[in-house]
Amino acid sequence: MKILAIESSCDETAAAIVEDGRKTLSATVATQIDRHKIYGGVVPEIASRLHAEAICPVTQETLDKAGLTLCDLDAIAVTYAPGLIGALLVGINFAKGLSEATGLPLIPVHHLRGHIAANYIAHPQLKPPFLCLVVSGGHSHIIKLDSYTDLRVIGCTRDDAAGEAFDKGGRAMGLPYPGGVHVDKIAESGNPNAFKLPYPHTEKPFDFSFSGLKTAIINVIHNAQQKGEELDIPDLAASYRKTIVDILTSKFIAAAKETGAKTLVLAGGVSANSELRRRMTSNCKKEGYELYFPPLSLCGDNAEMIGAQGYYEYLNGTVAGLDLNARASLSIEQNYSNF
Ligand code: KG4
Ligand code: ZN
Repeated sequence: MKILAIESSCDETAAAIVEDGRKTLSATVATQIDRHKIYGGVVPEIASRLHAEAICPVTQETLDKAGLTLCDLDAIAVTYAPGLIGALLVGINFAKGLSEATGLPLIPVHHLRGHIAANYIAHPQLKPPFLCLVVSGGHSHIIKLDSYTDLRVIGCTRDDAAGEAFDKGGRAMGLPYPGGVHVDKIAESGNPNAFKLPYPHTEKPFDFSFSGLKTAIINVIHNAQQKGEELDIPDLAASYRKTIVDILTSKFIAAAKETGAKTLVLAGGVSANSELRRRMTSNCKKEGYELYFPPLSLCGDNAEMIGAQGYYEYLNGTVAGLDLNARASLSIEQNYSNF
């Protein structure tokens, strides 16, 4: 089954053709990062307009690269939640138009389920059940997957997401937007034990909280500025990254012990973090868990992951009509067919 997938939930316009949920026939990503950089974050209005400009050429390029036409496809999948409403609507309306014109079924896909499914493309042997740490710019979740479409939230962030913490910390350190990848790079040459940062307490053991940590780093920077002291940014970045990774890995491994999971999976933009990948690899080796994470090319937003999850949503009977609407927020547990 060949699915054309469309993703436009934030600042990447992406299309892909994915076969049977596992094989990418072609994929294209048009990133808007350079256009938002000067504002220090994504400007929703600009994002929507750039998606509207890019969506036709990105889809045409994807079909051309695969040597296919719309007649060769079996379904259209599209991200419908969560994300920026205006940005999501561009992809949804485009996908609806294609579905109406071709008569192909329209499959709505939850963006975070898509991030998990990036692993199905990279690891053909990976199947639920497993426990997944989904860490992106807007979300930090520990998810138990009993099947491709039965998901349960074991823990989630009470405030900022891990990616948001990286980005805001990076901004405070004077690094370019988006901060995550820059904090990661500069941290490689720093001392992770140079600064002692707080480890947050949460009422529920598998929940996360990053806002106190973000405030702590901002305070360190302001204090140094007030005293006219120069901070060692690589040391600060390394300490900050170490603390975030300590929190993510310790809670994820504790949740794995509690739920009896044997297979652990990382997903989302922050799964590109080199320290998180290293630490999870060594912890899982030590504790006897099987670990999977996506290649760097599939950690960020892309449409391959939407095509992969779309296949399993379709097998589960999920198809939308022309009344499909965008949702800015929506639980990952929610199946579209149960609305
Ligand atoms: O999944 P994603 O591409 O978009 C959302 O769905 O939010 O995640 C983007 C987030 C950003 O916060 C970005 O800074 C972070 O992932 N990120 C990283 C790294 N690469 C991207 N964070 C830490 N280390 C990285 N290497
Ligand atoms: Zn994402």
